[in-house]
Amino acid sequence: MKVLVTGAAGFLGSHTAERLLLAGMEVTGLDNFSDYYDVAQKRSNAEAVISRGAEIVKMDLRNAEEYQKLDRDFDFIIHFAAQPGISGSSTFEDYYTNNVLATRNLINFALENPDLKHFFFISTSSIYGLEATHPETAVPNPASDYASTKLEGERLILEQSHSGKISTSVLRLFSVYGPRERPEKLYAQLISCGINNQPFKIFEGSEMHLRSFTYVRDIVEGIYRALVRHKTLNGEIMNLGASEEYSTLEGIKLVEELLGREIRLEVIPRRAGDQNRTAANIEKARKLLDYNPSTSLREGLIKQIEWYKQFEDLKIMEFENQLL
Ligand SMILES: NC(=O)c1ccc[n+]([C@@H]2O[C@H](COP(=O)([O-])OP(=O)(O)OC[C@H]3O[C@@H](n4cnc5c(N)ncnc54)[C@H](O)[C@@H]3O)[C@@H](O)[C@H]2O)c1
Repeated sequence: MKVLVTGAAGFLGSHTAERLLLAGMEVTGLDNFSDYYDVAQKRSNAEAVISRGAEIVKMDLRNAEEYQKLDRDFDFIIHFAAQPGISGSSTFEDYYTNNVLATRNLINFALENPDLKHFFFISTSSIYGLEATHPETAVPNPASDYASTKLEGERLILEQSHSGKISTSVLRLFSVYGPRERPEKLYAQLISCGINNQPFKIFEGSEMHLRSFTYVRDIVEGIYRALVRHKTLNGEIMNLGASEEYSTLEGIKLVEELLGREIRLEVIPRRAGDQNRTAANIEKARKLLDYNPSTSLREGLIKQIEWYKQFEDLKIMEFENQLL
């Protein structure tokens, strides 16, 4: 089985690519190594994937001409590449071109793969809106350009199922954390601030936000199960996430306990579009995939802290080498 994983140098794409390689699949990863966050982290993620036997192609999905770099013999496509998150530094053009136009280009490419069995679009709980507690049948209420453009991506993908052109499905993920987490996200920031004794900038009111924080391995397992059972998923939308909820404040207290130190908080203005509550309703995934995420927040954060320390040591060693 040959799988194309887009965004394979990113947080979730790299973990998923590794999981597929461990299962004996042939993986081609692609990524444009965008500088949305530290490119050194993406290079390190990509190296981990390559060391397990994948090929990584550097290309930008927005550019139709670059698709000539790819073979046309894929059995599956898993599409992670996107402009993620809600960030003041990302423009509407960033969201639109990376989440909508790039997805449309990738669909055109998918149509040229005669053996393609299924196309998975990796989506987000953000499409539900400020309260993401619903089953997949709920009417989406996006509250950010990120969410609106991901929803448009979902529609372009599912159009292929509805028209009978490609078998596709949408997996909506809930607040993923763990090793390699994007550096601007909650736990990556908290761990970095705690270890480096820097203030953690907290959006006003966000300490009471509730989240279905989901450990990355549990997400990857859900995606893998979906791939194995792809024949039953044509045209389906499915939530993947942990069903337990924690407030941001509980998350902060837990990181403090695990690091054995207090983290200074600096309150900054509220961020528009931030969800108040996410609680993954995974009844459908339980039924169709026998999905049962089991990693506790404590267990997952211990792993993420270990990873962070190792990654920082590696960065210091690389820096010192450059000085020699
Ligand atoms: N991390 C989460 O908690 C979370 C939650 C819900 C959904 N998601 C979805 O999961 C996917 C992956 O998120 P992530 O957290 O791993 O983000 P990430 O930024 O770490 O990974 C995305 C990767 O895609 C690449 N990319 C972006 N635009 C590209 C383009 N035009 N061409 C080629 N490569 C491009 C980036 O360089 C990056 O390496 C996204 O689609 C996101 O919407 C993530």
